[in-house]
Amino acid sequence: MGPTETPSLRFGDAPRRKRGGRIARMFDRIAPTYDLLNHLLSANVDVRWRREVVARLALTGRERVLDACCGTGDLALLLCEAGAGSVVGTDFAPAMVARAREKALARGGRAAGPALAFEVADTTRLPFGDASFDLATVAFGVRNLEDLDAGLAELCRVLRPGGRLAVLEFSRPANPVFRALYHTYFMLVLPLVGNLVSGGADNAYAYLPRSVLAFPGPEALAGRLRRAGFAEVHVVPLTLGIACLHLATRGPGQPLRPVHGSPPPAAP
Ligand SMILES: C[S@@+](CC[C@H](N)C(=O)[O-])C[C@H]1O[C@@H](n2cnc3c(N)ncnc32)[C@H](O)[C@@H]1O
Repeated sequence: MGPTETPSLRFGDAPRRKRGGRIARMFDRIAPTYDLLNHLLSANVDVRWRREVVARLALTGRERVLDACCGTGDLALLLCEAGAGSVVGTDFAPAMVARAREKALARGGRAAGPALAFEVADTTRLPFGDASFDLATVAFGVRNLEDLDAGLAELCRVLRPGGRLAVLEFSRPANPVFRALYHTYFMLVLPLVGNLVSGGADNAYAYLPRSVLAFPGPEALAGRLRRAGFAEVHVVPLTLGIACLHLATRGPGQPLRPVHGSPPPAAP
């Protein structure tokens, strides 16, 4: 797949790239314990959520799939093993990508063959030509993007018109009692256990709840998706709204070109 055009750079781009660099380094440092903590802290519910994504996509076996912000590759592996035509997982943290490659080799079978590849790449500047993919997925990644709108615009650009997007992300439960219980766990227990097991690298497990609370709610994210060029945006709450799946289709129009450094539009 051909390289993209060089994206235009603006004055305000530097701070965003600096934040992106910090986030990449943080994920690089927690890469060795990432999977263990994911499964431990979510009591393995994260596995169920990724399976739900794959089930809802009803793969045909012909689709070219991009799994952006792939981390250690769990969703890309599932997509490949579920029979997607081909899968490319991308992430800007090289240690996460290295883990993903190791896991694919260790799994063997289709995952160790040419149907699955992992590359180091920034979701806000994807190294793929326009309309390169039929399907794009992002699990627990968009919340971390230093420029959400640039990332969504890039995902729209690399999808063919009519191509599908699935975004799985943490959210906030709607029920106030459950939300209060969940927040106690999320704000107190999770950072404590996470930082203990990961060695406290960059206080990463305090960053997790902070980033979830700072992230736009499901309706606001749906609005940002529409603005980036997606249509038919559906929101599916999972496990009482702890996570949300956004399903969307790339609309027929020209997708927005990401202009790095422009201020994000106001949430609807
Ligand atoms: C919470 S992890 C999720 C990983 C994986 N998708 C999963 O389901 O476990 C978020 C990932 O997003 C990656 N990420 C954050 N911002 C990124 C960007 N701008 N470009 C590429 N990867 C990014 C991080 O390096 C990290 O691996």
